[in-house]
Amino acid sequence: MVEMRDIWKTFGKKEAKVEALRGISLSISQGEMVAIMGKSGSGKSTLLNILGGMMSVDSGEYLYKGRQVNGRCQKELTKFRRDEIGFVVQYFALVDDLNIFQNVALPLKYQGYSKRKIQEMVTAALRELGIEEKANAYPSELSGGQQQRAAIARAIVKQPSVILADEPTGALDEATGDSVQEIFHRLNVSGKTVIIVTHDAKVAGNCERTIFLKDGRVEKMEAHPFQKEKALLQIGFLKKGEEL
Ligand SMILES: Nc1ncnc2c1ncn2[C@@H]1O[C@H](COP(=O)(O)OP(=O)(O)O)[C@@H](O)[C@H]1O
Ligand SMILES: [Mg+2]
Repeated sequence: MVEMRDIWKTFGKKEAKVEALRGISLSISQGEMVAIMGKSGSGKSTLLNILGGMMSVDSGEYLYKGRQVNGRCQKELTKFRRDEIGFVVQYFALVDDLNIFQNVALPLKYQGYSKRKIQEMVTAALRELGIEEKANAYPSELSGGQQQRAAIARAIVKQPSVILADEPTGALDEATGDSVQEIFHRLNVSGKTVIIVTHDAKVAGNCERTIFLKDGRVEKMEAHPFQKEKALLQIGFLKKGEEL
């Protein structure tokens, strides 16, 4: 579904030049749940931004569902992000003076959806995240875990194929982080490709595969195919003896 070939990305010029990505090649299949790990500054967020069509590359090829993403014009990239990608960040990025319903409805604005359709889509997303009763609350009235759920609801309200998350549990305590991770597993089981940047080895260990970045390169990849099943058993999504 996602294929990158020798992706390079540099920021700044001359003395201030930073080579954030130095020849990244990788592929991710539809329905996979992948973690990206690496020290701070290793290029994780840059990679995620490129995957989400939010940032251009200097060179290399990025294919999504077999079609080149690099080289598309702004208008096409906007459409790509809108139709395919749900993005979740560490600090939730909710708009303080909009209530939760309005925050989750933001990606639907100016898309020509009827009021009724918006109501339906937002309610479905809130229900999926278990925060339906918070629709009229403001972000400051929610716990960290609930705010992150709202941010995830906003990311999935248009039913994207791919969910990109940049340290989604980084600002949460362990128990809350676990429940947020569960949500990503549920979304993955429902067919979405999930790519999570994380510092947390436990979060990564529950994914099918971890891609380690170091100094803008892929250092190594670790597959742990059975971990996902184990994680799903733990959250009661699979019963013992059942297979994926
Ligand atoms: N917009 C930017 N302008 C200049 N340098 C940047 C920018 N974004 C990232 N960088 C640099 O690129 C490198 C990789 O950054 P980033 O992808 O954010 O790493 P990570 O998410 O792994 O911490 C770092 O050295 C960072 O300082
Ligand atoms: Mg980062």
